[in-house]
Amino acid sequence: MNLFFDSAADDATRRRELYQGAVFVRSSSPSVSTFCEFARDLTETAFRSHDPRTAHQNMPVERSVELLAKLKPEFIHHPKSKEFVQRILAESGCDLEKTYFDVPRLRTAFPSDYLSSGIAYAFHPHRDTWYSAPFSQINWWLPVYEFSPNNGMALHPQFWDSAVPNNSSTYNYYEWNRTSRLNAANHVKADTRVQPRPQISLEPDPQLRLVFNVGAVMLFSAAQLHSTVPNTCGETRYSIDFRTVNLDDLLNRQGAPNIDSACTGTTLRDYIRASDFTRLPDDVVAVYLDGTEADFTPSPSADLVAVGKA
Ligand SMILES: [Fe+2]
Repeated sequence: MNLFFDSAADDATRRRELYQGAVFVRSSSPSVSTFCEFARDLTETAFRSHDPRTAHQNMPVERSVELLAKLKPEFIHHPKSKEFVQRILAESGCDLEKTYFDVPRLRTAFPSDYLSSGIAYAFHPHRDTWYSAPFSQINWWLPVYEFSPNNGMALHPQFWDSAVPNNSSTYNYYEWNRTSRLNAANHVKADTRVQPRPQISLEPDPQLRLVFNVGAVMLFSAAQLHSTVPNTCGETRYSIDFRTVNLDDLLNRQGAPNIDSACTGTTLRDYIRASDFTRLPDDVVAVYLDGTEADFTPSPSADLVAVGKA
């Protein structure tokens, strides 16, 4: 696995590497820092007098869920959130006319014995491509507060080119939107929603837990197997993630190889152009339709309150 730190590679080179399983970290970026500051302001306003990282110590879990159910959509829908992503992409050398992104999500990983379902879902090992993500999707992940190896996320690169038996064939993105996502805040004690997951017990090690400072951002392919680290450090982790696709790569069918994904539907209707926030042209999306969209009414994830795609 190739790890690039503060690489000077241009965006096309970076995408090619990502599609081969590489991970990129940019250690310092003014636009990322500003976005994190914005997220901290919103979060701290929501939690009022409590430090959001330790608020769970004095707060019933139902109250935390209630706060998150308001905070997360507020963050997603805030007009500034899109502008921050636009700035990050520009600063990262992406062509804003050809780069599309989906709305940024605010994620929380509470201590495992407090809340790890529903609106703070602790993701089991998965590839986003099991959840109808395009194979050219790139994930951008940034911490809002400093974090540790024990409340971050893990990559499982040994599975980059080896298949993991999974039930992604049961997953259809449109169906998921219709039935499961609006209910995320209801899954407080346990998450009963059927999600793609490994069908065998996976050996989690070796696993890669990259830790970096606020202001840094990590990029990895949607085909990379990754998971939420069980939070054993006592502090809640807050992070932001969003995804990008490149128009040329979509048209040319460039992207990571499909090793074991069998889901249907596509998330492509969620993407907006970085330059002007218009949606992907229908003729581009059409290339990725598989017939299951027949019942789909365009109300993409941007309008929903939920854990979002994996
Ligand atoms: Fe994911």
